[in-house]
Amino acid sequence: MATVADLIVVSNRGPLSFQLGDEGRAQLAGSGGGLATTLQPLVAGRDATWIASSMSEADHLAASDGLMNVDGMTVVTVRLDADTYRMAYDVVSNATLWYCHHHLFDLPRRPRFDVHFVDAWDAYVSMNESFADEIARLASQGATVLVQDYHFALLGKLLEASRPDLRTVHFTHTPFGDPSALRVLPANCASELLEGMAGFGACGFHAPRWKAAFDACYHEDDLTALAGSGVAPYSFVAPLGPDPVALENEAAESTGIDPALERVVGERMLILRVDRIELSKNIIRGLFAFEELLDEKPEWRDRVVMVALAYPSRESLADYLAYRSEVEHTVERINDRFGTDSWTPIVFNVADDRSRSVAAYMEYDVLLVNPVRDGLNLVAKEGPFLNRNDGSLVLSREAGAFDELKSGAFGINPFDVTETAAALHGALGLDRDERAERARTLKKLVVARTASDWMEDQLRIAGSLER
Ligand code: ADP
Ligand code: G6P
Repeated sequence: MATVADLIVVSNRGPLSFQLGDEGRAQLAGSGGGLATTLQPLVAGRDATWIASSMSEADHLAASDGLMNVDGMTVVTVRLDADTYRMAYDVVSNATLWYCHHHLFDLPRRPRFDVHFVDAWDAYVSMNESFADEIARLASQGATVLVQDYHFALLGKLLEASRPDLRTVHFTHTPFGDPSALRVLPANCASELLEGMAGFGACGFHAPRWKAAFDACYHEDDLTALAGSGVAPYSFVAPLGPDPVALENEAAESTGIDPALERVVGERMLILRVDRIELSKNIIRGLFAFEELLDEKPEWRDRVVMVALAYPSRESLADYLAYRSEVEHTVERINDRFGTDSWTPIVFNVADDRSRSVAAYMEYDVLLVNPVRDGLNLVAKEGPFLNRNDGSLVLSREAGAFDELKSGAFGINPFDVTETAAALHGALGLDRDERAERARTLKKLVVARTASDWMEDQLRIAGSLER
């Protein structure tokens, strides 16, 4: 049994994720996104307790085999029954709140809030209650509790009631939905969500736009009507940055780009993209933009390869599987259309292998990051930091990181395929000096804000909360 902690970090995905391997044993799996990977070194060495979900059978097995230990912290996992967890994680967190905050709903068809959703919302409430109980059990008097992401919107109010002595900070790694997006949710869910968040001592975001959307929701009477006062909590902006030392270490350990991939690219220029297979990352419009580039600027044919390094995500959701197959078909179609015996225009490669991404960051000529909406996008910062080739960045104006990087990047509207194709053309055709100048600017902007700045901001704000 863990002892009481002065610092507690809470996230759904913990520092370690497992999958079932040979003979049904739990094996370490990939990290699944930026949050858990980035948090781990920040939490280590602070004598903190990290409370996370036990997300799968493999995680349950790993926990009972004592494999959830990470140096420099205590990891505690919360296990819900499988149906409750599936409804809270798949149905509410991923298929509803993620879509809401990223404005991904396909409104003529979905969402459909029916009786099953009522049960799913109850499961989400129950997940938040289980975590509140665990935090209340483990937190010392006046402890700091740093809660990550949309899986735990209700924890603020729950902890305010059970442990008013705690200094609670919530950080949202996604965008926050505009009032019109929250209005799509059942009225009670929207107001419970806002009321839940209002119970935190402070709520943080990666970009001013997401904070503004959050604050705006509290000014909409209909959204807060069921929730009581509608008073917004203290909110702040604190963008995450990469950890320069950790990244340099990863780069130093890199054995370089996969030789098979290197052979395909050869002397050609390299347009890289690196994403979870995730609807908000806008992979398909990125492929269309590359196709339009090859159509409209035929001089690039056979002179450039687009490498899309992707890793699987949320495969229990049908939408994500369908999206993956749409991406694969689009790649095939474009390759059939333009490819030759000696040139494959697009390499789409799926593997949960971060070192492969790090090697590619070092080599690209152009990095394409074109999400329809993204809380921050760490790839847009890690790439320019690690690139050794004066590569350029084509970046969506809808990524949180755009605010910080806009003076070095080619900004695009992610819905505008023609503008994206033109930006790719502009970036590929830069002369050597301008390329180097832009790459220098980007690096300077990236290192201006590190991962530990982000952590220190939260601890400082937590420390300043009156309790
Ligand atoms: P998100 O958190 O939405 O997935 P981000 O761009 O913010 O998007 O973070 C993604 C993180 O995953 C980055 O740190 C990126 O370098 C890392 N990453 C890249 N390739 C892989 C991979 N194959 N497996 C796991 N993580 C990867
Ligand atoms: C984003 C979210 C994180 C999440 C990650 C991976 O970065 O902000 O909270 O952990 O995606 O998603 P997953 O559902 O696999 O944990």
